Amino acid sequence: MRLVYKFAIVTIAVISVLLVVAGCGSQSASPPPATEKVWTVSENPVTWKSDGLISDNEYTSHQKIGKVDVYSRVDGNTVIFGLVANTDGYLAIGIGAEQKMKGADILMCSMQDGQAVITEEYSAGPMGPHSPKDSGNVNISQISGSLQSGMMTIEVRRKMSPGGSQDKPLKIGENRLIWAIGDGLGHLHTSRGSGIVVLVR
Ligand code: HEM
Repeated sequence: MRLVYKFAIVTIAVISVLLVVAGCGSQSASPPPATEKVWTVSENPVTWKSDGLISDNEYTSHQKIGKVDVYSRVDGNTVIFGLVANTDGYLAIGIGAEQKMKGADILMCSMQDGQAVITEEYSAGPMGPHSPKDSGNVNISQISGSLQSGMMTIEVRRKMSPGGSQDKPLKIGENRLIWAIGDGLGHLHTSRGSGIVVLVR
């Protein structure tokens, strides 16, 4: 083979290797892990759809409290939540806890057979027990959820200031919530904590 052909073949081979190493080859770049995804929020949000998936500008506020991303928007006398956490067991938020879990008005969220299930619970003591409320699930509606790549997303509308004896109100501005994630309903949380969620009108 003439020298010029040999030189051309070697050059093409070297360039091909460099392109693959640099990520410009035929392999597509893998998407970022779902845990890194943060959606934008907006003062003028798009129409909310309870489809178990959060989209850009669907919410007006976002805070990460511990391991739970809390998206929210206020609609009349209701608050709409989009909750995201790395769990396939349960994720929960609790409103109005007085000491540890005591007095918390809890939304216990899980996915069962592809459907989001939320139970309103009330914690009688600082370490529980927390049981479904006497009044049942009366403060929530439009429940949806999804489980993708280990990330659970829950969307739900909740009354802002329900008046039952086991109900705790939310308000515009800062709200202290407790949160927990766990491997399965009825199991002690694998992580828990508290944080401030800011609701904006
Ligand atoms: C599923 C059943 C649950 C059991 C058996 C349980 C049990 C307990 C126990 C024994 C403690 C004290 C020990 C510790 O700090 O880890 C505790 C603390 C705590 N739990 Fe739970 N819990 C449950 C669900 C929840 C839920 C759903 C939430 C949130 C909505 C929650 C929030 C918390 C918080 C924030 C603390 C720490 C309080 C503090 O130290 O300030 N727990 N829980």
